[in-house]
Amino acid sequence: MKTAILTGGGDCPGLNAVIRAVVRRVLAEGHEAIGYRRGWAGVLEGDSVELGRKDIAGLLPRGGTILLSSRTNPYADGADGTQVVRKQLEADGVDALVVIGGEDTLGVAARLAADGLGVVGVPKTIDNDLPGTDRTFGFDTAVQIATDAIDRLHTTAESHDRIIIVEVMGRHAGWIACAAGLAGGADLILVPERPFEIDTVCAHLRSRHETGRSFSIVVTSEGATPAGGGLVTQTGATDAFGHARLGGIGFWLEGEIAQRTGYDARAVILGHVQRGGTPTATDRILATRLGLQAADAVLSGHFGVMAALHGTEVTTVPLARALETPRLLDPDLYADAEVFFG
Ligand code: F6P
Repeated sequence: MKTAILTGGGDCPGLNAVIRAVVRRVLAEGHEAIGYRRGWAGVLEGDSVELGRKDIAGLLPRGGTILLSSRTNPYADGADGTQVVRKQLEADGVDALVVIGGEDTLGVAARLAADGLGVVGVPKTIDNDLPGTDRTFGFDTAVQIATDAIDRLHTTAESHDRIIIVEVMGRHAGWIACAAGLAGGADLILVPERPFEIDTVCAHLRSRHETGRSFSIVVTSEGATPAGGGLVTQTGATDAFGHARLGGIGFWLEGEIAQRTGYDARAVILGHVQRGGTPTATDRILATRLGLQAADAVLSGHFGVMAALHGTEVTTVPLARALETPRLLDPDLYADAEVFFG
């Protein structure tokens, strides 16, 4: 039996740990593994590499993905993606495909599985908003990186009596902003789930300053929006799946806050720093467990599912669950963070 693996969409710390776990498990059972490079682009172009024991050595702590990634969509422009993918898998003698990705990559995987291909998914995003699983790997690493940044920004904000706005990733959901803001002691956290009034934000900062604090840290998700307004972006560019390139709400807040309050304000966009580098121990373990679960699904011919974490248990759920609405921030977690606002 030959299993192929691909990684699609934005990269995420822990991808290599998943690849390692899948390969180790299938090799141990006497099967073969290959990897398609650059996500679905590798399948469309027939660009694959063998994955033997030596190819996965040293992968556990390594960030990024050795298979590379892309946001290629096999169904773009009305193409018959299923036919193209099926032909390539047959040409390569592939019996099963493990797809590691987020909403878009897994959306393609679910469509292929519905068309009868042997596909198993592994959910991935630092945003932690994929439905069907309680947690995605990469999130813990992103939160740690953002928390370290907030700690550092605290000291410089204090030195200069400044408002520092820290923009973190989170397109649909404020998991990273809320968790890092809670861990870093943010004075205000803005998330996509709660459109904000800029007047309220400024009133909040003024009242904090009236109590004698001359600096503040505001953490905002990239997907946070002013009430009644849309997403704030810098370029207006979109990707192959039609998503806007986010990033810019921090600068918008910097301008509005400085103008309305007269306080000195600076925005810091953490951006892809949050996706780079070595995964935390927690993410390495989660990625490994999800990879083993996906390999077990393949070995037992249990297709059309994705590995998932439910509580402390790793299990499988139907791949179609990845297409449900994003898993939004737990309101109780936000309420806990709110206690420390101001
Ligand atoms: O989907 C995960 C994510 O990290 C989003 O939070 C962010 O908007 C997006 O990826 C950016 O991805 P890229 O710049 O790689 O297209």
